[in-house]
Amino acid sequence: MIQRKTQVYIGCMAALVSVFGLYNFAIYTNDDSSYEVRLSPAALKGQELWQQNNCFSCHQLYGLGGYLGPDLTNVFSAENKGPEYIKAFLNSGVKTMPKFHFSEAEKEALVTFLKEVDQSGYYPNYNATIKSNGWVDIEYKDEK
Ligand code: HEC
Repeated sequence: MIQRKTQVYIGCMAALVSVFGLYNFAIYTNDDSSYEVRLSPAALKGQELWQQNNCFSCHQLYGLGGYLGPDLTNVFSAENKGPEYIKAFLNSGVKTMPKFHFSEAEKEALVTFLKEVDQSGYYPNYNATIKSNGWVDIEYKDEK
């Protein structure tokens, strides 16, 4: 005969296992994890080139990346910089930046990628305020 205590124990374990199962089912079958792609097709092409050519190994976006070259988050809108400035760097091989051989279309795609990154916000962002509940309010460009 199984003792009463053991029966309760088995019952509790069975309940826990089924809760665990239901919880996992709920988590892995909802599609909240899908995210909205905000980049235009042209910018996505630029992002692909950005990744294939390891721009990240030397440059940062929002402060993340390698540190051999400057952060490029706002290079598109920075004073005295912009599309032509960016293009000028790509195939010229200045300092430690490799000399790439991008076609005009590829340069355009990289510029579009950097333009859309630029539109997403500021880095560094000095307009952040810390609220009393601990959250930080950041100013986003596309909220304007
Ligand atoms: C091996 C390192 C390295 C890689 C890889 C690299 N860069 Fe650079 N890049 C640099 C350095 C260093 C500078 C600064 C050159 C200077 O100021 O004369 C620079 C400058 C730039 C600038 C001008 C930035 C400014 O604010 O003046 C742009 C734009 C740029 N790189 C884009 C790219 C893109 C796009 C890629 C990928 C296709 C790339 N770089 C890959 C090292 C790199």
